[in-house]
Amino acid sequence: MRHIHLGLIGFGNIGTGVVKLLRDNADILEKRLGTKLVLKKIVDIDIESPRLTAVEPQLLSTDADAILNDPEIDIVIELVGGYQPALKFISDALNNRKHVVTANKALLATYGNDLFQLAAKKQRNICFEASVGGTIPIIKTIREGLVANRIRSVLGIMNGTSNYILTKMTTDREDFETVLKEAQELGFAEADPTFDVEGVDAAHKLALVLTLAYGRRVPLDDLYREGISGISQQDVEFAGELGYHIKLLAIARQHDELIEARIHPTMVPFHHLLANVNGNYNAFHIIGDASDSVFLYGQGAGMMPTASAVISDVIDISRDILKGVSWRVPARSFQEETIEDINLMPVE
Ligand code: HSE
Repeated sequence: MRHIHLGLIGFGNIGTGVVKLLRDNADILEKRLGTKLVLKKIVDIDIESPRLTAVEPQLLSTDADAILNDPEIDIVIELVGGYQPALKFISDALNNRKHVVTANKALLATYGNDLFQLAAKKQRNICFEASVGGTIPIIKTIREGLVANRIRSVLGIMNGTSNYILTKMTTDREDFETVLKEAQELGFAEADPTFDVEGVDAAHKLALVLTLAYGRRVPLDDLYREGISGISQQDVEFAGELGYHIKLLAIARQHDELIEARIHPTMVPFHHLLANVNGNYNAFHIIGDASDSVFLYGQGAGMMPTASAVISDVIDISRDILKGVSWRVPARSFQEETIEDINLMPVE
């Protein structure tokens, strides 16, 4: 059986987790796939700093073309984040007929439609399980597990940093600024933490969920968005006295032809499962017309949890490659040429 060759662009926190997981679980991955995954090249602008996982120097390069122009590499894992040069890397990979695995929610929420159409033209996959919900298989759940359903609603805690801050403000009565600093030190805040605390990161993730659930394009600027930067210690305490925890919820709900979609701090009653999702954990409450309630909970960020989602995509694509399937049309597609804009319900 032929081996599957991988190229990794971005050897930061998650990239290091991917390398570690490919090594630590090489035996089970090989058994489950039926062949070896071979990491052929790792590219980063910094190849000098020591990582948790030491790699042979000949594996490292600062030149992304060492991956993008290598005809043997089947799958490019993009973990650079941000817009450029990640957009160029993914476009070049697809143009060179490589499959792509990415965790880049900001890029996909903004340029996803162009990229998915390019992928369709080139008959290659872009998989992005790690872009929403960290380790939680929310993409596969909507796209595959619940494919038979009309999705009535998705309520989610989709930003771990905000949830960490709100939790600490509630349990330890710490103030906003102190906890934000802790979250940054723990490494799960975005490079620009305003993305976390102003709801931008949650909006990127909600846009992806909406397109998957409803098959429509979501102009990001049309999403109602309010972050947690205005929440004070007093708000958290008053909510508690009334029997609620404050959570940053991303909400999608179908109303006939209109879709309600919004992100804002929400008072969630103590008894609701979402009120009890603490720390940097994420959770999703999905209601399908046939399935009824489905609840997913797990680490929304972090090195190994996110690496787990990245490798799950690598295995999915590898299975297709081994079966001779070059491109899988997603059940709910971004790739349709005719994809329409979502009809959003006005938020009062
Ligand atoms: N900054 C993000 C969060 C990282 O806090 O959830 C994972 O997408």
